[in-house]
Amino acid sequence: MAYKIAVLPGDGIGVEVMREALKVLDRVASKFGVEFEFKEALIGGAAIDAKQDAFPDETKEVCDWADAILFGAVGGPKWENLPPEKQPERAALLPIRKRYGLFANLRPAIVFPALIEASPLKKEILGDKGFDILVVRELTGGIYFGTPKGIFEEDGKRKGIDTLIYYDWEIERIARVAFEAAGKRRKKVASIDKANVLNAMVLWRDVVNEVAKGYPDIELSHYLVDNAAMQLIRNPHQFDVILAGNMFGDILSDEAAMLTGSIGMLPSASVNESKKGLYEPVHGSAPDIAGQNAANPCAMILSAAMMLRYSFDLEDAAKAVEKAVESVLNEGFRTKDLYTGKEGEILVGTSEMGDRIAERI
Ligand code: IPM
Ligand code: MG
Repeated sequence: MAYKIAVLPGDGIGVEVMREALKVLDRVASKFGVEFEFKEALIGGAAIDAKQDAFPDETKEVCDWADAILFGAVGGPKWENLPPEKQPERAALLPIRKRYGLFANLRPAIVFPALIEASPLKKEILGDKGFDILVVRELTGGIYFGTPKGIFEEDGKRKGIDTLIYYDWEIERIARVAFEAAGKRRKKVASIDKANVLNAMVLWRDVVNEVAKGYPDIELSHYLVDNAAMQLIRNPHQFDVILAGNMFGDILSDEAAMLTGSIGMLPSASVNESKKGLYEPVHGSAPDIAGQNAANPCAMILSAAMMLRYSFDLEDAAKAVEKAVESVLNEGFRTKDLYTGKEGEILVGTSEMGDRIAERI
C-alpha cells in the first residue's frame, strides 16, 4: 500500500525547500521499503495567479485524496495589496485547517546543540544544552473562527468583531493531545490562558484540570498568557509541553521559535482525529531570498519527518530523517541563514544541503 501525499509547494522558497523534502522521502522509500504516491497542486499566491483562488477546487480534490499534506509556504509582496481575507496566508491556510478538522497543531521549538549560539538568549539563561519545547496549539476554534465575525456598521460607525468561543469538547481533545505528548517527553504540561479576564479561558482552565485527572504522572501548571510570554524569555527550561488556544498558541509559538534563533530549522504538524495532517515549516515564503538556492530546507525536511511519525506511524523512518539532519549540522554544513563564518562551518546551498541529508539516511 502506498502512502498518499499531497504536495503543495506554494510560493517563494516553498518551491525550493519542497524539492529537497521530496528527495529525502525518495531515499526513505528505498531505505525503509515503503511506497509514497505524490500528487502536486497549487496553493497560495501561485494558485491565485492561475485560478484566482488561493485554495482552488483542483487542490481540494488532491488534498481530499491524500493521507497527508506537505505544505511549503505561501505569500509574498505580489499579493500584499489584496483584501485581508483574500491574502494567500489567510485564504489558503485557514480553509485547509477547517476542511480537514486539523485541530491539533504541534510546533516543536528545539535548539540544536550545533546551533546553540544562534539563540538570542544569554548564555547564563540558555546554559549549554539549549532547550526543547513543544507548543500544542488548538487550531480550528477560538477567536479565529468564532461568530459573529466581521466589520459591521452601526449608527454610522464601523465596528470590528471577533468572538472568542471554546466548547468544552474542543478544549478536552486538544488537552489530551498535550498530555499524551508530555507522557512521551519530560511529563510536564504548561496550560496557557487568560482566566483572570476571559470567560472562555475560565472554562479552558477548568476543562484542562479535569483532563489532567486522567494523567496522574503528568505535572500540570497554569500560566496566564502575559506571564508565559515573560517566563519563556526568563527561563525557557521550565517548559516541556505548552498547551494553548488558537491565538495565544500562535503568538507563543513564534516567540519560542525566535528564542531558538534558527527558524529555518523548525517544522510543524497540524493533525486531525484520524491522523490526516498538514506538515509545514514554521518559516514563511521568504521572497527576499527566493530562487537563489539559499533557503534552508531543514524545516521542510523535518516537517516531512513529522508526517512519517504522526500520519504514517513510521517512527524509525522519522528518527532516521531527524538524525540525518543533525549529522549534517554536526559535520559543519550550513545554509546561509545559519552560517556564521566560524572555523569548521561549510556554506552550502539549498540543494546541496538536501543531498547531504538524503545521503545520510
Ligand atoms: C501561523 C500563521 C497563521 C495563523 C496566519 C498566516 C493565518 O501566523 O500559522 O502561525 O495565525 O495561524
Ligand atoms: Mg503565526
